[in-house]
Amino acid sequence: MNIFNRLSDEKIVPVIKLQSPDSATPLADALIKGGINVAEVTFRTDAAAESIKKIRTNFPEMLVGAGTVLNLENAKKAEDAGASFMVAPGFNPKIVQFCLDRKIPVVPGVTSPSEVEQAMEMGLEVLKFFPAELSGGIPMLKTLASVYTAKFMPTGGLNADNFIDYLKLSNVIACGGSWMVGGPLVESGNFEEITRLSAEVRRIIKANF
Ligand code: 3PG
Repeated sequence: MNIFNRLSDEKIVPVIKLQSPDSATPLADALIKGGINVAEVTFRTDAAAESIKKIRTNFPEMLVGAGTVLNLENAKKAEDAGASFMVAPGFNPKIVQFCLDRKIPVVPGVTSPSEVEQAMEMGLEVLKFFPAELSGGIPMLKTLASVYTAKFMPTGGLNADNFIDYLKLSNVIACGGSWMVGGPLVESGNFEEITRLSAEVRRIIKANF
């Protein structure tokens, strides 16, 4: 299945920051137990590439992407690790072109009409809206929907209380967030809580779609 169709089926993308690749397998297991079969592992730590590899090997059915891809070095590492898609906080045409050349789905971050147009000009149809809450949130996405056919993955400031309102927007395919995989939960090994929070997200989505 097309990666964007899978993201749109999942409807939620946990944004993960791992201090050690040792946490990758138990974290992915905790997400899957909670009903979430996608993970965006961010290049905010050196553990990203190894973590992506581990999840791919141990959970081949899980969709694993690279997040916070800030430069071509990150992008190359993500590709080598086998990331199925790449997400970036900003719109960097070099990273977009790198992914287009390799047919790797890429979701760069935008917050303005000019950035949406630059991304669409490169043939992209799905963009990250980041940081969502600080950039006008739901009213901004509604306004963008009145002008552009592009779809969005909002992240930044979403949580269990507000994500579903984003998800109901016609131009949102999935929401991203770190609230169910917060650093302290991972670092203290509280994977049961990650499963509980993931299952809560899944329950809210089921109740609304
Ligand atoms: C991201 O990179 O998508 C964000 O940092 C996630 O935002 P959150 O931590 O506010 O959920």
